[in-house]
Amino acid sequence: MKQTTAPRTYRVKSFGCQMNVYDGERMAEMLGAKGITPAPEGEEADLVVLNTCHIREKAAEKVYSDIGRISKAGAAQGKRPMIAVAGCVAQAEGEEIMARAPAVSMVVGPQAYHRLPEMIDKAVAGERATDTDMPEDAKFAALPPRGSGRRKVGPSAFLTIQEGCDKFCTYCVVPYTRGAEISRPYSDLLREAESLVENGACEITLLGQNVNAWTGEDGKGRSIGMDGLVKALAKLPDLQRIRYTTSHPNDMTDGIIAMHGEVDKLMPYLHLPVQSGSDRVLKAMNRSHTADSYLKLLERFRAVRPDIALSGDFIVGFPGESDAEFEETLQLVDTVRYAQAFSFKYSPRPGTPAATMEDQIAPEVMDERLQRLQAALGRDQLAFNQASVGRTCDILVERKGKLPGQWLGKSPWLQSVFIEGDAQIGDMIRVELAEAGPNSLKGRVLEGVSA
Ligand code: 5AD
Ligand code: SF4
Repeated sequence: MKQTTAPRTYRVKSFGCQMNVYDGERMAEMLGAKGITPAPEGEEADLVVLNTCHIREKAAEKVYSDIGRISKAGAAQGKRPMIAVAGCVAQAEGEEIMARAPAVSMVVGPQAYHRLPEMIDKAVAGERATDTDMPEDAKFAALPPRGSGRRKVGPSAFLTIQEGCDKFCTYCVVPYTRGAEISRPYSDLLREAESLVENGACEITLLGQNVNAWTGEDGKGRSIGMDGLVKALAKLPDLQRIRYTTSHPNDMTDGIIAMHGEVDKLMPYLHLPVQSGSDRVLKAMNRSHTADSYLKLLERFRAVRPDIALSGDFIVGFPGESDAEFEETLQLVDTVRYAQAFSFKYSPRPGTPAATMEDQIAPEVMDERLQRLQAALGRDQLAFNQASVGRTCDILVERKGKLPGQWLGKSPWLQSVFIEGDAQIGDMIRVELAEAGPNSLKGRVLEGVSA
């Protein structure tokens, strides 16, 4: 390939989970530190990073069509954009992408993106590069500090504390694309949290594929779990809210449950995926918990924090799932009454054990089950929102609403709340929740800005 000019502008497009959003922000900071600036709106970027997701459906096809679209849009403005494919599709199908898509200059996996700046230099010299290594914990140490490259940190920031997964649920690609479970060191996390807060974050969401499996040593060399980390972060004076996601039922500890009754800054919200309400299906999924052990766990959270908003993930149509087994999922939903939930049709992922299991479920059956499940979850979400009407709480303002003078903030229970009046992004505003819909509420402002 011929030598090209160094990119001056970039755009990072992240798909999928919040960990990808976090990675996308870190990549943007790195590009900023290299003197590359965000492409102005309406202008095609010199460098486009596709930060991809491999968890469900036609992930690779989506990447190829995005590559085509980027090349075309660039050509329309007389450019040949440099394209980098990052994220989990890069990890799983990097070589194929390189072979099939000559427009791609770089393929970089989720554990290797700290090497992006060198790869850009190579691409400028005309060399295509693939890096899907998984060097243990090398990435974070090599990244520039938060807020680098004049990137603004929003009021609600993500902080990856744990990565990877050793659970090997039979449907899931994550253990293959993100690698083994690792916990980032305590002191690095405190430092990163401090710099997020200094740069404007009032809320931090701790991230990990199994965030509650985080372990480390505190400043005095004592072994601690995620509860110890949360308690240390709660001491940062300007940090007002802490959240965490996603947890695995088997990694829950007494300390994590107890902290929901002890740490005021920890928000009353728990995302705890269950996937199915049938013990036979859970076993075939290799979940290593039962419907009953999961329900008992939730009861313990409700005992220490009665108002906790519960959230979960579900898969319908796992291979072999019978009508009766699906009904067990609906029963579990009826028992829990989730405040929010995410539900998906099973999607066979190449290389996972479930992809080659017998009795794959017909698409129409999956459609019907998903509709019934989503109707039940939607009913409960609306009921949770309606039961919140009359509550007084603070909302953290995250963005402007569509109407003039309207703002959108988040309640402690992660509900979207619209208010009208004077506000700014990052304000903490006291409201009474006044009206509820399925996806959002209206709030009546009680007091002005409190932060
Ligand atoms: N098919 C459908 N849903 C999946 N998830 C993970 N793998 C698959 C798959 N192969 C869902 C699970 C998980 C969430 C992040 O995505 O519910 O909790
Ligand atoms: Fe995937 Fe299961 Fe690991 Fe979650 S716990 S990332 S669903 S393998």
